[in-house]
Amino acid sequence: MERLQKFLAKAGVSSRRQAENLIRDGRVKVNGRVVREIGSKIDPRRDKVTLDNWEITAAEKKVYIMLNKPPRVITSLRDPAGRLKVTDLLKGVEERVYPVGRLDYLTEGLLLLTNDGELAYRLSHPSYEVDKTYIAVVRGNVGEKALGKLRGGIWLEDGPTRPALVKRLAGGKGWTKLEITIHEGKNRQVRRMCEAVGHPVLSLKRVRYGPLYLGDLASGAYRHLKPGELRALQTACRFN
Ligand code: URA
Repeated sequence: MERLQKFLAKAGVSSRRQAENLIRDGRVKVNGRVVREIGSKIDPRRDKVTLDNWEITAAEKKVYIMLNKPPRVITSLRDPAGRLKVTDLLKGVEERVYPVGRLDYLTEGLLLLTNDGELAYRLSHPSYEVDKTYIAVVRGNVGEKALGKLRGGIWLEDGPTRPALVKRLAGGKGWTKLEITIHEGKNRQVRRMCEAVGHPVLSLKRVRYGPLYLGDLASGAYRHLKPGELRALQTACRFN
């Protein structure tokens, strides 16, 4: 929530003092109703503010957030089933951000959220797509033959996957831990690749997105990107 005069000033309409006069003069409406109280608060993401019946939109500052998405949280901004959404985890973020790409309901790890539409578009576009690295625990003992198939590219129902970097990190009775780096972002790609070689995924976590690393960010926690990280991301999709 934000004071109306501050919202008007931030949107570049006038100084905060002048905005108070506009409010007193009855020239400002919130959701169609004239508001004359100086202390009134609005929700810049939901309320419609007009000055002399012209809509005023906030000049939002660009924000870039890295979230460690927990499993059982959805990436979509709306869910008819009422499940927890990634944006529900961003307490204290005022800007209306949206996820860049998606992670499945059960997948955890690095998810980027921003209100920079141009950067988000480029990062999701096939010609700029950045490498993503996942840690997958899969069923069974993955042998050289399956590793070779995963590395070489696999035919999925919507076409072939590009060659992937695949390392076997560990294994036990009935499971193998793999590090998989892919370049494109087909729907449920890692799960479908592993399934196609007979080793269904038991758990999946994204630990790298282009130049960004999840590091020790706790599950469910988020942080703003550092300036150097943002520059690296912009460079990765030739944005500067
Ligand atoms: N690959 C998958 O299978 N799921 C994800 O969430 C991301 C990549």
